[in-house]
Amino acid sequence: MNDSDVRRETLAVTHGERGQAPAPGVEDVVVPVHLSSTYSVPSIDPDADLETLDPDAGEYLYSRLSNPTRNALEHRLAALEGADHALAFVSGTAAIAATMTAVVRPGDHIVAFEDLYGGTKTMLTRLFADRLNVDVSFVDATDPENVAAAMREETALVWMETPTNPLMHLCDIEAIAAIADEGDAVFGVDNTFLSPQFQTPLSLGADVVVHSTTKYLNGHSDSIGGAVVTDREDVLEELTFLQRVGMGSMLSPFDSYLTLRGIKTLPLRMRQHETNAMEIAEFLDSHEAVTRVLYPGLESHPQHDLAARQQSGFGGVLSFELDTDLDGTAEFLGALREFPLAVSLGGVESLIEHPATMTHSPLSQTERDALGISDSLLRLSVGVEHVDDLRSDLASALSVL
Ligand SMILES: Cc1ncc(COP(=O)(O)O)c(C=O)c1O
Repeated sequence: MNDSDVRRETLAVTHGERGQAPAPGVEDVVVPVHLSSTYSVPSIDPDADLETLDPDAGEYLYSRLSNPTRNALEHRLAALEGADHALAFVSGTAAIAATMTAVVRPGDHIVAFEDLYGGTKTMLTRLFADRLNVDVSFVDATDPENVAAAMREETALVWMETPTNPLMHLCDIEAIAAIADEGDAVFGVDNTFLSPQFQTPLSLGADVVVHSTTKYLNGHSDSIGGAVVTDREDVLEELTFLQRVGMGSMLSPFDSYLTLRGIKTLPLRMRQHETNAMEIAEFLDSHEAVTRVLYPGLESHPQHDLAARQQSGFGGVLSFELDTDLDGTAEFLGALREFPLAVSLGGVESLIEHPATMTHSPLSQTERDALGISDSLLRLSVGVEHVDDLRSDLASALSVL
């Protein structure tokens, strides 16, 4: 049928699009946002396996299963972490949940850093321990011996973050990889705080790396997303099933596009985040109204040597404590102009966060005291603005104390 033979109602739905996917003869420099939720196929295929559709082989049927924009992002994420495979999820939380679900079964045991992102800790206790009969041991992993001591026959997963939030504790990835390996457990590292620009845990022996791409990878505070990177075929197979079918928690095409775009400037941004963070850390460290600064780039940081050894940069996040109480802290925050009070981190803009009343408010006062999260502890995500403007803003706000 020619277009002249079909009615306006049909033209309105189909004209110009049939046969246009993706765009024959057009070589886009930037991967387009492939929003189509479904793809027409040339004919029926009795051998098609929905769970293993390979986008690299042009196998597209339904966007939850495979999508060209997401596929491009997954390739880039894998390459940055030095791996062959990555899967993009709807959030960092979804990436972590899928990874843990891929690895552990009821009756298994997990060894985790006691100082994890609060959401991950809650997931481990309320979902895995309380509902799925998975035992979890939280340990002080700054000393690998504590990880070794917690390992059991049933330990299926060892889970770490380094550096941690907001106390900037580090763990030795290589040493813990050897312990996990010895115990036949999968070793997962949340690499959100440094991004692959400054740390590649797989090269240090980890089996799986996860990211909240919401942070540095996307870098512009306008997308929520997550990723898992691994070369372990057994874990990858489970994760692919969970991402596509078991949970349906894949990243959307538009968020994949935003993250692909953000990653283009990751190396540039990370360098500037680090330069600015180091200057701000040194400035705060020398200020009389500041009692302590937690930044692995400072030689005074107790794990500075480990940071210098296993990282290729110190990152853009630091915490500091004011010589004041909760009221004084609120006054200081109110005097800032360049640091919006907001959770999250890793965007080009600087942010400040008050752990005691924001990210760590679900913890009791006793738990916060035990961890060292006081009412005057603040976390900075240092952005890429001109550092003189950031420093003078902090100096003028500190003068109110
Ligand atoms: C280290 C770390 N991991 C995971 C997450 C969770 O990521 P998302 O908010 O993308 O679910 C966060 C969020 O702040 C985080 O800081």
